[in-house]
Amino acid sequence: MKEKKRSSRCCGWLLVLIVLAGVGFAAFAIIRQKMEPEAAPVPGLPGAITKKYADALKIAMQFFEIQKSGKLDKNPIPWRGDSGLKDGSQAKLDLSKGMYDAGDHMKFGFPMAFTATVLSWAILEYGDQMKVVDQLEPAQNSLKWITDYLINAHPTDNVLYIQVGNPKVDHSCWNRPEDMKEARPLTQVNTSAPGTEVAAETAAALASASLVFKSTDSTYSSLLLKHATQLFDFADKYRESYSISIPEVQTYYNSTGYGDELLWAASWLYHATGEQSYFGYVTGKNADDFANWGSPTWFSWDNKLAGAQVLLSRVSFFGSKDVSSSNILLKYRQSAEAVICGLLPESPSATSSRTDSGLIWVSEWNALQQPVASAFLAVLYSDYMLSSRTAKISCDGHHFTPSDLREFAISQADYVLGNNPMKMSYLVGYGDKYPEYVHHRGASIPADEAPGCKDGFKWLDSDEPNPNVAMGALVGGPYLNETYVDSRNNSMQGEPSTYNSAVLVGLLSGLVTTSSVVQSFA
Ligand SMILES: *[C@@H]1O[C@H](CO)[C@@H](O)[C@H](O)[C@H]1NC(C)=O
Ligand SMILES: *[C@@H]1O[C@H](CO)[C@@H](O)[C@H](O)[C@H]1NC(C)=O
Ligand SMILES: *[C@@H]1O[C@H](CO)[C@@H](O)[C@H](O)[C@H]1NC(C)=O
Ligand SMILES: *[C@@H]1O[C@H](CO)[C@@H](O)[C@H](O)[C@H]1NC(C)=O
Repeated sequence: MKEKKRSSRCCGWLLVLIVLAGVGFAAFAIIRQKMEPEAAPVPGLPGAITKKYADALKIAMQFFEIQKSGKLDKNPIPWRGDSGLKDGSQAKLDLSKGMYDAGDHMKFGFPMAFTATVLSWAILEYGDQMKVVDQLEPAQNSLKWITDYLINAHPTDNVLYIQVGNPKVDHSCWNRPEDMKEARPLTQVNTSAPGTEVAAETAAALASASLVFKSTDSTYSSLLLKHATQLFDFADKYRESYSISIPEVQTYYNSTGYGDELLWAASWLYHATGEQSYFGYVTGKNADDFANWGSPTWFSWDNKLAGAQVLLSRVSFFGSKDVSSSNILLKYRQSAEAVICGLLPESPSATSSRTDSGLIWVSEWNALQQPVASAFLAVLYSDYMLSSRTAKISCDGHHFTPSDLREFAISQADYVLGNNPMKMSYLVGYGDKYPEYVHHRGASIPADEAPGCKDGFKWLDSDEPNPNVAMGALVGGPYLNETYVDSRNNSMQGEPSTYNSAVLVGLLSGLVTTSSVVQSFA
């Protein structure tokens, strides 16, 4: 009894102490909050799923299934079958996999590798969100479909096959990929005809994918990384643009320079390996040569500078102190913020490249690539800010919060999905009204027809809508005056591509739910 009483008195005091300490801590916390009135909210658990973006993501992901070449094992598209099975055979290589570029049947390595890099990035940042809506596995499978091809396209250290098919020959046919009979010549880069940008982009694709598969298939992940490091060395040592070594490539995917790809690839290799040499690469002389500080650029299959800036900002936000304090890293982050400031409509440095209703609009050809790619970067940056509790960025003295960035990203996504003067969705298969005459050979020809190269043109000329819906195709998009001509031969506005789908998948994955991103990919 006695003992009990004493102990209870003791505990009574303890309780008072605990309460006092609690009050003190609460008061301290309030003072702290007052001192930091703009402290960002702590990122919480992922919020509720936004059905609109979840539905759109599921649709967008299907376009990769439509574009697959090779032996299709689990094919969810009823009008697609095996094709391109002999691609690469003349060089004793299996280049049957990979994806057709757009409405045609070319395999263009430069944009295909970019598609893979962006898809990896989306998975690494937003894999959790993809998983919640059952899209993680399809995304990984589509990524692997490309990286399997890219590995086979790199048979020795300094040789990379960058193209299957001849675009002149390919474009003179209108047939289904399943019925292709035309020659499928191969094009390579090598030490006498180097291609720095295409080798570096392929290195970026394989390095980023090595992170995606690191925990689920470590053998494959190591193989990807081995090819990535070899390709990067090849790209860096033999510096020349493939547009100069092989002028024919200028007609379709002309490269305006390789400095951006070198920085982008080295950034991915740094994330994938943690090796200081890659950090030194992006912060040393190459930064002076290629980083183009402070000048905003459009993120695209040709120019990855803005992507590299955002990817390196990630290190500035979340990296260990010894690297994140680097002055050069800060310059990348400032350049990334210059890109973001250009996008935000209320910013003093807002770009005037916009339609009247607010869509970023830069080019008549494939108009949607810039708004969608820009919105992907904006949602990433917004989530970096949230996850690192960064309250705001400054654009010439005006402050913008993570919600402002997200709002911009949402405005572009909503435009694509139907909130536009045409009241139509530019994502095929989404909503009630979307393009029905998409410039896509496979979609335009009935699945039970097997026209040859030339007699298939009657399907291009037909007045009927496509018999097969190219689910998930993101078409080129509207004119500056926000009109759209839904006509099958209008490839400027009506041709989808795998790289359009990749940036859209990234954007939609970021919008499926509000989120905090992982601090490290590894
Ligand atoms: C190197 O690539 C060029 C351009 O594709 C090609 O013309 C040449 O034959 C290749 N060299 C070798 C040794 O295969
Ligand atoms: C390809 O890009 C280079 C570098 O920007 C440019 O000089 C060249 O004119 C372009 N070629 C074509 C066909 O547009
Ligand atoms: C919109 O722009 C396109 C391309 O410049 C033009 O062909 C078309 O006539 C314009 N439409 C209207 C309604 O102004
Ligand atoms: C389709 O467009 C191309 C390129 O503009 C043109 O050369 C071709 O004649 C057009 N074909 C038809 C059937 O209109």
